[in-house]
Amino acid sequence: ASTINLAVIPGDGIGPEVIAEALKVLEKAVAAEGVGLEQTHYKLGAEHWLATGETLPDEVLADLRTRDAILFGAVGAAPGDTRIPSGIIEREMLLKLRFSLDHYVNLRPSRLFGTVGSPLANPGTIDFIVVREGTEGPYVGNGGTLRAGTPHEVATEVSLNTAHGVERVVRDAFRRASARERKHVTLVHKHNVLVFAGHLWKRTVDAVAQEFPEVTHDYLHVDAATIFMVTDPSRFDVIVTDNLFGDILTDLAAAVTGGIGLAASGNINMDRTAPSMFEPVHGSAPDIAGQQKADPTAAILSAALLLDHLGYAGAARKIEAAVIADVENRDGGARTTSAVGDAIAAAL
Ligand code: NAD
Ligand code: IPM
Ligand code: MN
Repeated sequence: ASTINLAVIPGDGIGPEVIAEALKVLEKAVAAEGVGLEQTHYKLGAEHWLATGETLPDEVLADLRTRDAILFGAVGAAPGDTRIPSGIIEREMLLKLRFSLDHYVNLRPSRLFGTVGSPLANPGTIDFIVVREGTEGPYVGNGGTLRAGTPHEVATEVSLNTAHGVERVVRDAFRRASARERKHVTLVHKHNVLVFAGHLWKRTVDAVAQEFPEVTHDYLHVDAATIFMVTDPSRFDVIVTDNLFGDILTDLAAAVTGGIGLAASGNINMDRTAPSMFEPVHGSAPDIAGQQKADPTAAILSAALLLDHLGYAGAARKIEAAVIADVENRDGGARTTSAVGDAIAAAL
């Protein structure tokens, strides 16, 4: 298409601040390609829920389905905010989007740009991607509580893993590895304890690996994976893992590659039966919201992932190059959110 029909969900907290910068850069990048950008903005999130009681109405979901892609900021209230029960927005809006639109590949790249920014003394070269399963695992809401509030309360949270769901995300990880230089997949799980799901994942990796003789693979328990992510992050190329392990590992991956303000993600429907959604890994950061302190780089890199998905790889690479130039020249001095956006837009 010569025009991108984009849905924009800025959300809460720093969401609108970082999305404003991502749009600044995205608008300039697509204009340079002669591509149009038609935007529809949606008010959704914790603030919207407080004002209206709505999480994600069916009509809004249906409308979102008509767009080419979704650019998402962040949603959620401050962890101590008592006006809104924890989990409502996350489950009924963000996860509902990921599940309804079948975002089974939660793609989270981690790269260390230059040597600046890592808290590790000798980070080495860090360039890996996490392919996090996005529609299953302990995220499905398969659980409940008995005798709530009593000393005999029993709470369950059952992880759901289907052969179909595991196989499609594992195959995606091998495909991505096959296209990369090192062609290596690491399955991260915990099959020594989570034997049912763990064995399904392990068997699936062994089976799918047969289709990709050029790709090597190994396995790490998730606890050991956190050690290596800090002591030897260069060993990773493509990590494939379940929804919850992937959530935790990618915040750690962000921290070792310069901070959560740089970490981008795509919630991708590889079958293209619905629009994919691109968002920073971070949340609404209530502690710094409204102060122009947030780093918009993660949102800007998420816009590059969005362009990649829609087939505008050239524009995506230009955004990445502009980000790298900006990040490598950072001297630790404080800049406002919009100053960072301006600098990256100028470097395009
Ligand atoms: P968070 O990611 O919002 O913040 C964690 C820490 O990182 C905070 O100190 C914050 O200031 C900092 N930080 C985050 N983004 C930053 C940026 N761009 N630049 C500089 N610093 C940044 O995680 P949290 O505090 O656990 O969650 C806050 C709310 O966000 C919760 O309601 C949570 O459910 C929600 N959340 C939403 C998403 C999402 O929308 N995808 C993701 C994570 C958390
Ligand atoms: C993320 C967030 C979400 C997740 C929450 C807010 C539902 O932490 O995008 O990483 O756990 O996936
Ligand atoms: Mn997370």
